[in-house]
Amino acid sequence: MTMELKTQNIRHRDICRSFYTSDKQLVSYMVRLLNPENGDFCLEPSAGSGCFIDGLLATDKTLRIRAIDFSNNAVTALHTKYACNKNIEVLNRDFLLSSGALFDDALTFDRIIANPPYGGWQEYEKRISLKSVFPNMYVKETYGLFIAQSLNKLSPNGRAVFILPETFLYLHLQKALRRRIIETTTINSADIFPSAVFPGVKFGYAKLCIISIDNRKPNPCHLMRIRHCENLDELISGGGRHHEISQYSVLQRPEFTFPLNGYSPETQLIDEAVLRLGDIADCVTGIYTGADGKYLRRSAANTRGHDKYHEADIQKIVSSSNFYPTLEGFDNEACFIPILKGGGIPYLKPVLWFIDWSAEAVRQYRTDSKSRFQNSSFYFRTGIGFPMVSSGRATASVIYESWLFDQSVVGIFPNKSNLFGFLLAFLNSGICWRLLRQINPSANNSAKYLRRLPIILPSSDRLSWFNSVVSDYLVKLKSGAGQDTEIESSLDDAVKSLYAEALQHSQLRKNG
Ligand SMILES: C[S@@+](CC[C@H](N)C(=O)[O-])C[C@H]1O[C@@H](n2cnc3c(N)ncnc32)[C@H](O)[C@@H]1O
Repeated sequence: MTMELKTQNIRHRDICRSFYTSDKQLVSYMVRLLNPENGDFCLEPSAGSGCFIDGLLATDKTLRIRAIDFSNNAVTALHTKYACNKNIEVLNRDFLLSSGALFDDALTFDRIIANPPYGGWQEYEKRISLKSVFPNMYVKETYGLFIAQSLNKLSPNGRAVFILPETFLYLHLQKALRRRIIETTTINSADIFPSAVFPGVKFGYAKLCIISIDNRKPNPCHLMRIRHCENLDELISGGGRHHEISQYSVLQRPEFTFPLNGYSPETQLIDEAVLRLGDIADCVTGIYTGADGKYLRRSAANTRGHDKYHEADIQKIVSSSNFYPTLEGFDNEACFIPILKGGGIPYLKPVLWFIDWSAEAVRQYRTDSKSRFQNSSFYFRTGIGFPMVSSGRATASVIYESWLFDQSVVGIFPNKSNLFGFLLAFLNSGICWRLLRQINPSANNSAKYLRRLPIILPSSDRLSWFNSVVSDYLVKLKSGAGQDTEIESSLDDAVKSLYAEALQHSQLRKNG
């Protein structure tokens, strides 16, 4: 099976990020999609150990193959491996910045196949050069640049097949590349499957995607296939579930994100929303001290991080009667205040963490290069905390005005106070969670995705109802009562029925 051969020790400075597709079935599936024909000139721009070259040779077609890699070791090994193959030319080049023959405009390839490096470290100087070669592109991520460069080198009507992180299909940072591909090429298929096909490799991407692209302007009626597979067998055998979607329709979507589960009333609600969370609330990320072990304390009830965090000294916690909001910090001995971190508990999360808010610590947060004294105009305001990352369903909880929120939380601050109860209920609802996962299927709930949530505002009577139920519930929770599933379900049902009507309208428009 596949494995990581040679990434450098310091992950964030790893320039290769090489994960090798040595699984023969996977290679042969990708080569089948590539469908090379006799006489084709093929390119492998990140050849590594040559798995795809082997796959091309196994087709028994008469092909001319060019293999490129910028690693001396890889190129030496490739030279040795293919010394007897006169149809294979191995070049030691940086595919992204090479000049000379490789980038002679007249030189194009009929077929390009690649497993490009993901997230390879780019030196700062190189980023400047890359920015000039690839304007509008996200140059910190190598795979996108590999796709862009490959498409530059693909012959008219030629085909390229890539294996990539699935996040390419919806990540905000790749929107320029998605637009280019959708506007100028014809996408045949995108197969999505778990990254477990790279066993032992923890590179943080939940899923992978094999995308097949023809260098041909898309026909306005072109349908592309998006397929979801649970495992390699399903991928290879053509199984799994799939949707045919109009390529052209993706251009109409915000940030040109692919509707991974096809179009549904929910995607329609997201795409056509007249009001979004970002229109009625500020969504911002919280503070990072730069050295949490030094500046955070855990409450006595908080058993997490025993080794890293000291327990808070009750004498040093600012009492609510002495509290006043200050962005300069306190000069008193009592200088620790509550801070919300992460999620996991809906509506009211008990105080588990305290932050050092002494004048000296605050000076440090403002000046230290590692800390993030960000969005400080939202400190000490009542709001809603939503965890930035969540593997399961996320929960939203109140941020009180004597609290702070850290960078693991997106703080949501309604523009009008009468929206608070409804928004806290909405952000805890099942429908909110489903919509958010349609906007971004990964575990990432960052502010830019939350802002896009479609909002259906209740009538003013219902807004008051939400406010009163939520504020009574918060009082109850604050007094020490346990979670009340009945109250939470009634709030969830109220949000559900509000959205059910809007979803029904979307369905009718879809059918009509
Ligand atoms: C992910 S590995 C893929 C190897 C092979 N295609 C496979 O799937 O097993 C990526 C390869 O790209 C090479 N590479 C990384 N950045 C490169 C660049 N800018 N130009 C050329 N090769 C590069 C690395 O040295 C590595 O061998």
